[in-house]
Amino acid sequence: MTALLKMEGVGISFGALRAVHDVTFSVEQGELVGLIGPNGAGKSTLYNLMAGALRPDSGRIVFDGRNIAGLKPHHVARIGIARTFQIPKPYRQMSVVENVMLSAMLNERSVSKSRERAAEVLFEVGLESYVDSPVSVLTTGLLKRLEVARALALRPRLVLFDEIMAGLTPSEVKAVTALVASLPGRGITVIWVEHVLYAIMNTARRILVLNRGELIADGPPQQVVRDRNVVSAYLGEEEPADAQG
Ligand SMILES: Nc1ncnc2c1ncn2[C@@H]1O[C@H](COP(=O)(O)OP(=O)(O)OP(=O)(O)O)[C@@H](O)[C@H]1O
Ligand SMILES: [Mg+2]
Repeated sequence: MTALLKMEGVGISFGALRAVHDVTFSVEQGELVGLIGPNGAGKSTLYNLMAGALRPDSGRIVFDGRNIAGLKPHHVARIGIARTFQIPKPYRQMSVVENVMLSAMLNERSVSKSRERAAEVLFEVGLESYVDSPVSVLTTGLLKRLEVARALALRPRLVLFDEIMAGLTPSEVKAVTALVASLPGRGITVIWVEHVLYAIMNTARRILVLNRGELIADGPPQQVVRDRNVVSAYLGEEEPADAQG
C-alpha cells in the first residue's frame, strides 16, 4: 500500500496555546482510520490544517506526494480532500439539492452533471425524499447527513468526517456507519473523528488518539482502549502514565 496522506511533524499555535504539536502519522490509500480524543484535543484543528482552513506553523502535510500545507480550502477540495464540519454550515436560503450541487460543481463539468451527482449522493445518504426541500426543515440528524452528502459530492479521494453521528438516533447511527464502512471499498480513504465511540470502534481497524494537541496512540481499537495514556487522557488525569511494562 502507498501512503495517501503523510502528516510530518505538523503543529499550530493559537497565541500561547499549542493546539496541535508535532503530529506525525500516515494514512494508506483505502484505509478507514478513527481519530479520537477528549474535547479540545485538537481534532478539528487538525482537520482545518489538512483541509486548508489553517496553515501549520511547523511540519509538512503531504497528500499524494505533494506538500499541501497552506493551500486554500477550494484548492484542497479540488485535489481530492473533502471534509464535513462539526457544526453543519449549510446555505440556509437554498434547497437541499442546491446545497449539494454547490460542492458537486467544483468537480463536475456542467450544472446538469452537478445536479445528477447531487441526486446520487442524496440517495446514498438517505435524503432522497428531501431533494427539493428547504434546508430549514432538516433535523440535526438530517443536517449531518447533508454534510456527508456535500463531502461525497466532491468525489473525494480522502474524506474527513467530523462528528457526523452527534444528534443521530441509534438507527440513523447504524445507517450512516454502514455508509462510512462502504467507502474504502469504493476507493475513498476515510479519517473519522467521532465521540460516538462504539460506532467508530466497531468500524475502524486503526485508531489515532490525540490529547492536548499530541498524538498519544496509534493502533487497533482493542489495543488503544487498553493503552494507559489513552485511559488517563479520557479520565482527565494531570500527567499521562509512563511507558507501559
Ligand atoms: N481559531 C482558534 N483560535 C483560538 N483557539 C482555537 C481555535 N480553534 C481551536 N482553538 C483551541 O484549540 C484547541 C483544540 O480545539 P479543537 O476544536 O481542535 O478540539 P477538538 O479535539 O476538535 O474538540 P471537540 O471534541 O470538543 O470538538 C481548543 O483549546 C480550542 O479552544
Ligand atoms: Mg472538534
